Amino acid sequence: MSSSPIAVYGATGHTGRLVAAELRARGLEVILAGRDAARLKTVSDELGGARVHEAPLDDPDALRALTAEAAVLIHCAGPFTDTGRPVALAAAESGCHYVDHALEQHHTKWMFDTMPAPARDAGSTMITAMSFYGGMGDLLAAAVAADLTGIDRVTSAYAVSGWRLTTGARKTAELLFADTRRITYDDGAQHVGYVEPRNVVFPFPPPLGPRTMIAPIPSSEVVTVPRHVPARRVEAQLTAHTFEEEGAFTGDAVDPATRAGSEFTVAVQVITEDGGAAGRITGRDLWRLSALASVEAAVRLAGGQGPGPGVFAPAEAFAAEPFLRDLEALGLFRLTLPERTGR
Ligand SMILES: NC(=O)c1ccc[n+]([C@@H]2O[C@H](COP(=O)([O-])OP(=O)(O)OC[C@H]3O[C@@H](n4cnc5c(N)ncnc54)[C@H](OP(=O)(O)O)[C@@H]3O)[C@@H](O)[C@H]2O)c1
Repeated sequence: MSSSPIAVYGATGHTGRLVAAELRARGLEVILAGRDAARLKTVSDELGGARVHEAPLDDPDALRALTAEAAVLIHCAGPFTDTGRPVALAAAESGCHYVDHALEQHHTKWMFDTMPAPARDAGSTMITAMSFYGGMGDLLAAAVAADLTGIDRVTSAYAVSGWRLTTGARKTAELLFADTRRITYDDGAQHVGYVEPRNVVFPFPPPLGPRTMIAPIPSSEVVTVPRHVPARRVEAQLTAHTFEEEGAFTGDAVDPATRAGSEFTVAVQVITEDGGAAGRITGRDLWRLSALASVEAAVRLAGGQGPGPGVFAPAEAFAAEPFLRDLEALGLFRLTLPERTGR
């Protein structure tokens, strides 16, 4: 494994702190990075001392100085609508491997389609949307669809209870649900435009059973899944009750133990011309799962594993089922794969 450190941008946030603590627990050298040195110092003290690097988004030199000395950067600051590009560009230009927690479709699309080619081609491996929302749907879609043909639709359905949004997550949700130029994937093509939100029923297996869903949610799967699953339609959905729960949008300052109380099932249904398949993960604490997914990816990249230079969806970077099995072994969820349906 490389001895270069792993940088955590946004180390002062909830996700960044979890990521930094996990890296430290694995005995890895970490650089705590973000826009405010004093807040970073507090996190450093909590960890018993770690290097701090102040690099505001409007200081490309400071960002490049950070990425120049890190083997991998894990980007945890959001909303990515605001923070995504400068940090990703600095990593790309330095040849620093990169993993992000973005849920935002437009950030993910920019990474694949618009990031300037000279930056993209500088040698780093860049993995976007390696987190709970978006990332788990992407990995499950690949694992469930692995040997299927004639795929009509892929639906990733998130059933989440007890989600106490952080400030960053709340701002992200507010921006995304107000977005009138959403990305959808239908008839084998990407579309950008207004989408009428609707309620549908998704057939979760027992004990959840059928649940009313917000459909679609503006999640990154519509950008990532069609890159590796030949489907005609891809959609992400979220249980309607998730945002109706008391406390969902007032969770900015809850304690970490309360925040860790979320419960989830992520189910992916793949429908083919003659049936299909489904798979799911069921567990607790979507925040910690997000952190561990990005750390697992970063550790692999630091150790020389990965697909080589370029921008990748989670399931393009690593074989989906083994990666999910490795995450499952960390004890946060149970993986059920695959359940064939139809004839
Ligand atoms: N897809 C998923 O499942 C998933 C999971 C976890 C997180 N996320 C995303 O990750 C992001 C962070 O989430 P969180 O829960 O960690 O939020 P949080 O606890 O509110 O932390 C936000 C972090 O972003 C930093 N930040 C915000 N705006 C910034 C800016 N303009 N310049 C530099 N740093 C900035 C903050 O720095 P300061 O301390 O200096 O304010 C802080 O470190 C969100 O966008 C969230 O949607 C996604």
